[in-house]
Amino acid sequence: MIESQPDPNAVAPAVANLDVIVSLAKRRGFVFPSSEIYGGINAVWDYGPLGVELKNNVKRAWWRAMVQERDDIVGVDAGILMHPQVWVTSGHVGSFSDPLVECASCRRRYRLDELPGTEELTQTDIKDPEIVDRLKLTCPVDGGKLSAPRRFNLMFKTYMGPVEEEAAIVYLRPETAQGSYVNFKNVRESTRKKLPFGIAQIGKSFRNEISPGNFVFRMREFEQMEMQYFVRPGEGAATAFEEWLPRRMAWYRAYGVTPERLRFREHAPDELAHYAKKAIDVEYRFPFGWKELEGIHNRGDWDLGRHQQATGESLEYFDPATEEKYVPWIVETSAGGDRAAFTFLTDAYREEEVRGEKRVVLGFNAELAPYKVAVLPLLKKRDDIVEKCHALRDDLAKDIMAVYDDTAAIGKLYRRQDEIGTPWCVCIDVDSLEDGKATIRDRDTMEQIRVDLSQVKPIVMERLAKARG
Ligand code: GAP
Repeated sequence: MIESQPDPNAVAPAVANLDVIVSLAKRRGFVFPSSEIYGGINAVWDYGPLGVELKNNVKRAWWRAMVQERDDIVGVDAGILMHPQVWVTSGHVGSFSDPLVECASCRRRYRLDELPGTEELTQTDIKDPEIVDRLKLTCPVDGGKLSAPRRFNLMFKTYMGPVEEEAAIVYLRPETAQGSYVNFKNVRESTRKKLPFGIAQIGKSFRNEISPGNFVFRMREFEQMEMQYFVRPGEGAATAFEEWLPRRMAWYRAYGVTPERLRFREHAPDELAHYAKKAIDVEYRFPFGWKELEGIHNRGDWDLGRHQQATGESLEYFDPATEEKYVPWIVETSAGGDRAAFTFLTDAYREEEVRGEKRVVLGFNAELAPYKVAVLPLLKKRDDIVEKCHALRDDLAKDIMAVYDDTAAIGKLYRRQDEIGTPWCVCIDVDSLEDGKATIRDRDTMEQIRVDLSQVKPIVMERLAKARG
């Protein structure tokens, strides 16, 4: 069941201005514009030293929930390049497109449904060839006349092999899902899994988006975390669909996303993707509005049915319980790795006033935090203190991401770690040399406890295990 929907205007975003996140991300090494020294390339972003840790942690958390902890789901890692016929069969060559309009004077191109004044349009309106004239839409930059919409296919093409000819065209996959479908038979036969079972995959996908933007929200190269659940046709799929909705919502909440900033939104019939019988999005209240974070789809037998027909390979399943043979239906949960990392980053951001000064904190769930612990010397000029710090960091780093920093005074070092979301700092001071103790400081409460150096690692590991739940 879908929960009641919060009033969109009543829920404030974690950050009013997206620039705050973009600037922090750049300054602290989460996300950089791609190829920046060449002026950048639109819609591609690179993850820096902290960003790669965050995104890897997000992917690990997803994999743990979707594969490791489930006896009924296994993983694959299929190629980005596939047989080009796959995309004809899947319907992407024919139908994976957005409506594009072009300004007659400045030649700028827009996705029709993202122009100002189209917010309330249905998909049926969007498909109307007269829509530009009917609504008197003009170029938002120079007011020029816009063309009638035409469908623009979002798949990137390239050539396989040394000859650039039509027959050598292959596509960069626009979803990981097809790599799981074409391996359905291999996976079932090699694992002997009985229905219902799932195939999970994390990997890059590519879409030549007409209007990318909003930082890493919509890119042309991005990562997906998709799970395809193969089930009995009809009711079997309807039941599985309802079961996956709360599970996926619970995952975002478990890793700390503010519940009020999450909601479900069902697709209207004229909005459904070409493969979907039913679709419900998990949406997040981004600084630029409620937007899709993940899609949950009932894809029916669209994919396996068509691949079976196109290849002549039987993709039927024999159900030993009922002695029936059928092509399984698919319930898909399709999340964006970048969108999820972006959501966790944005939702974790907070500003506080502490003793008259602004404190910026990324309150990540400890599992997602890039560094779990920072080891800081009170006096960087004391070799004996620094040596102890390095020994402790090296020991912690055997199991978790731990960092040493001595580039500022201790107060500033704490603030820097708060700003990148490090849950715990350990400070070693002159007394540590005498009493063998260190101070552990908690990011959120700023409480400090003094413990034996030998206890630092067990305490941090215990707190980390608690964050995992
Ligand atoms: N296999 C189904 C599928 O791909 P989708 O709703 O088109 O469904 C699923 O995409 C998820 O992939 C989205 O919810 C989003 O998180 C992510 N995604 C899609 N396009 C994206 C883009 N251009 N940039 C970043 N993430 C994107």
